[in-house]
Amino acid sequence: MVRTLTGKDGGPLAWILEAGPASYVIALFKGRYLVQYHWGSRMEPGLDGLAAISAPLEGFGAAQDLTDKSYGMHRLPQEYPWPQGGDFRSPALCAGILPGGQPAMDFAYRRHSIVPGLPEWGGLPLPHGAKDDGPLLHLEIELKDDVSGLAIVLLYLPLPGSGVIVRAARLENRGKRDLKLDRAYSFSIDLPPMAAGLDLLASDGGWARERVLERRRLGPGRVELESRKGVSGHGSSPCAILARPDASEDHGEVWAAALMYSGDWVLSIERSEEGGFRLQGGLHPELFSRTLLPGQAFHTPAVILAHSGDGLAGLSCGLHRFARHNVMPAAWAEKERPVLLNSWEAAYFDYNEGDLVEIARGAADLGAELFVLDDGWFGKRNDDRTSLGDWEHNPAKLPQGLAGLADKVHALGLQFGLWIEPEMASRESDFYRAHPDWVLSLDGRELSEGRNQLILDLGRPEVRAELESRIAGLLASARIDYVKWDMNRPFSRAGSPGCPQGEARHRYVLGLYELARKLTAAFPGILFEGCAAGGARLDYGVLSFFPQFWLSDNTDPVWRAPMQDTASLFFPPQAIAAHLSASPNHQTGRVTSLASRSRVAMAGVYGLELDPRRLPPGEAAAVRADIAWYIRHRGTIQLGDSWRPLAPEDDGNWTHLCVSKDRREAVFLWMRPGAIANVGPERARLPGLSPDAHYAISSPDLPLFGSRVFTGAELRVRGFEFEVPPGPDPRALAFELSATDAEQGW
Ligand code: GLA
Repeated sequence: MVRTLTGKDGGPLAWILEAGPASYVIALFKGRYLVQYHWGSRMEPGLDGLAAISAPLEGFGAAQDLTDKSYGMHRLPQEYPWPQGGDFRSPALCAGILPGGQPAMDFAYRRHSIVPGLPEWGGLPLPHGAKDDGPLLHLEIELKDDVSGLAIVLLYLPLPGSGVIVRAARLENRGKRDLKLDRAYSFSIDLPPMAAGLDLLASDGGWARERVLERRRLGPGRVELESRKGVSGHGSSPCAILARPDASEDHGEVWAAALMYSGDWVLSIERSEEGGFRLQGGLHPELFSRTLLPGQAFHTPAVILAHSGDGLAGLSCGLHRFARHNVMPAAWAEKERPVLLNSWEAAYFDYNEGDLVEIARGAADLGAELFVLDDGWFGKRNDDRTSLGDWEHNPAKLPQGLAGLADKVHALGLQFGLWIEPEMASRESDFYRAHPDWVLSLDGRELSEGRNQLILDLGRPEVRAELESRIAGLLASARIDYVKWDMNRPFSRAGSPGCPQGEARHRYVLGLYELARKLTAAFPGILFEGCAAGGARLDYGVLSFFPQFWLSDNTDPVWRAPMQDTASLFFPPQAIAAHLSASPNHQTGRVTSLASRSRVAMAGVYGLELDPRRLPPGEAAAVRADIAWYIRHRGTIQLGDSWRPLAPEDDGNWTHLCVSKDRREAVFLWMRPGAIANVGPERARLPGLSPDAHYAISSPDLPLFGSRVFTGAELRVRGFEFEVPPGPDPRALAFELSATDAEQGW
């Protein structure tokens, strides 16, 4: 819902965007400047409130309008600030008039329009509407600086079904001189002063140590979250959460911003001298600039803005709905994902067709539904030094080609999936020898390699056209049901001949989106999984094309569980692949119980990353039972709502709760990461259940627990207790809950 509130003279006073439980209100100050009036719980602004907006100049302010010296921009909560105009906080835009670079500024309101549907956005992905959103409307507000001729068109799109507001900006050179954009953020928002302060939830990390989350109170100055790696990064998705200090999993006020972008990004949070908080971000300004010639326009990536008054779970449940229904390709939103076995940790590069068929047979015997052939099947690739780009099967390994293997896998009752890394070329490849000038490079400098590979220049149409035809040919050459699209190195020395340096990396991302858009449209039946050396590219940009991700190469459950929790703040379990691997773990070397590896994997899209032939005695039966249990509950896990419900005592145990949409079924997963002696019963609280329903709880891991009945209210508020029998560490349990007519017994 989008509305304009008009004043007595018929001119606009404010714009009101409503999305589910959230409102976003933009006011027009002095008929000129856009002011952030409210972003939070649903409310209707009153005329008196809007009329009372003031920004007294005194206290070291600088008047911009000498006919009215009553206000200073440094106190106005702004929607898209610029520098040199008396707002001394960080700007959203740094643009200059060429030559010389005199700043574009003084952007004043010009016009607005409320338009049905969605605009085309310069090749960048935008969310799409879903059934629950009703007919979509978007608002465009135009600001202009007459001296430079630069116009800013701010896009606002509320999505009522998920409570999300989408923003973006389009910058248009309407003047006669060339302009240079050195910073063109997607958005900026000023939250009001909060006496108790505000917490930032953000993560960092690296390969196999993705997404280590920290919560800290914001102090003086500006905090920047970012990636300069050319991809959104292992440390963090391009996302940030702000929380009132008292906000928790199921209580309190929280805000989130997530860029719909897959390249270099920045999000910053600045505490102002008034105690308010400026949240803003977009393309990383150190790695982006753009010259805008007269008549040209530039679109920024979109940003997703979400608010909840019901804590982190309220926020993430809305974002999960958004990710599924407004971002991922519509055909995959309600589809349960198959249980797969991936060959990587089973065989690495060392296999032939016979081995693969045996591994696939083992997978089928365990109850898996899809066999994925990972790296090593093409060119001369027996290690990671060669052949990327040569997307032809290696006849020494696959004498009957991909089609022959795919048929054998299908004959076992499994779907067939394939690993590719289309954005890269090995120096040691026929493809690179034929096109040595198709890789990202800087004039006159040595190429740089990461994992022995070079990055193809997807910004160039001829490179994309060749890749599209090769990959389309490959995907059509066998019965392929799934593709793991990998990307295994960060950007460095990344330039493109003839392309201004500040534009090359962004053009790459646009090229990637175009390639992904075309290939996913050409093969709508293929399930694409995004991967970048584990989890270096998890973002709503890629999610528009690939409906699931590989979160990390680290499958050690003690590491994996918190990584999954961090990812689950923004992405639903249906989009997060989680595999049971062998012990000791191949990345950390840690020995862990089968139960812990399997229960943690059950919180996402369950899969196997092991050789079934090498399962220790007795484990095959347990894995088979786990897969059958998972498939029985997969609808609840993948398509329901999920919580990270901390135990009442915050005892350090990992917990994950999934509740079906009708609230009649639930799955609760629990793990104690460390060993402990002399411990009493554990207790877990399960928010998210229907308070009035009765639930029968049982666990495949605790035969003596039997089936116990509790009210939803008791489980939500007090929780339930269970004793954990001795066994290999980490101890981990799965519970299933089902609404029942039976009452609690005495
Ligand atoms: C990356 C992926 C792994 C695997 C290898 C293959 O590291 O994250 O899962 O596919 O590449 O080379």
